[in-house]
Amino acid sequence: MTKPDMIPARGHASIARRIGRLALVCGTTLLTHPAYSDELAADQLKGSAPYIETARRYLQSAKQKIIGGHPVSPGTHKWQTSLQISWIPSGVDAHFCGGSLIAPNWILTAGHCMEDLKATDVRAVAGPLDLGKSAQARSVRRIIVHEKYATDNSNVVAGPHPVNDVALVQVFKPFEMNAQLQQIPLIDTALEATIAQPNHELTASGFGATKVGGKVVAGLLSVDVPFVSRETCNRPQSYDQAITDGMICAGEVKKDSCQGDSGGPLTYHPLKDDVVQVGIVGWGDKCGVQNKYGVYTRVTAYRDWIMACMASPDDLAKCPRK
Ligand code: ARG
Repeated sequence: MTKPDMIPARGHASIARRIGRLALVCGTTLLTHPAYSDELAADQLKGSAPYIETARRYLQSAKQKIIGGHPVSPGTHKWQTSLQISWIPSGVDAHFCGGSLIAPNWILTAGHCMEDLKATDVRAVAGPLDLGKSAQARSVRRIIVHEKYATDNSNVVAGPHPVNDVALVQVFKPFEMNAQLQQIPLIDTALEATIAQPNHELTASGFGATKVGGKVVAGLLSVDVPFVSRETCNRPQSYDQAITDGMICAGEVKKDSCQGDSGGPLTYHPLKDDVVQVGIVGWGDKCGVQNKYGVYTRVTAYRDWIMACMASPDDLAKCPRK
């Protein structure tokens, strides 16, 4: 929590390093592109890698992510949230990460989306099946990143990737629930045990690119992704033991989440109209590639922290944070 304000505006090298790091985490080619402009106001930017990359794209007015997905029907995915750069007006340009509405004033997202950001950097938008249309927008009251959120650089096969990749965003004014907007419950351990079987279908959703290096899409997409066991995901040809019990893998060739989907929900539908959140879009090597499954933050591993932080956001002992 001391970070953002203590550090003077970052220089070019630092931004390049951060963008380079995102490229590894997200496994994309676009983000390693050398056309990273020198005079760009981007060197004034502070924030998470997805935030900086989105801002850089906007400032360079680059014409401007789910693989194998399809547009969602209206009235579904009512908890999907878009986290946007507060100073960019257009939703499509401003979107940098997904999230899920877990209470009228709380959004669950990824730690790597929120690191180094201040509340004023971010606008939260919900009910936006279409980023181009107006939905409910809220200013942010506080951002809480898990105290053990970090980048693990130790695994050669997996590359640098986030661990304990979870964060909460509290908005000032609660969202108004309606037919298009609802909160999603978090899965519990008992239900998780019944779904944690290979090939069990889960659903990822987001506004992210439909191909590696592609642009954010205006309409929400979703894709069904099969659950993949930790054992499979930890094989040498996959992520070679980088998958902890704080992570869940899902996906298959050409069915994956991708850049821009980070922070969004991985869900399970036990019954029609009865949906729970299982994971948070986290990382992966490229998107939709064989053996390189999508890696999601495991909700049950952080359930207690999430509940404690929503109940006592001011209590640093109950809700330890960065
Ligand atoms: N790190 C990416 C982001 O910030 C999400 C990558 C998910 N990758 C995947 N292959 N499932 O948007």
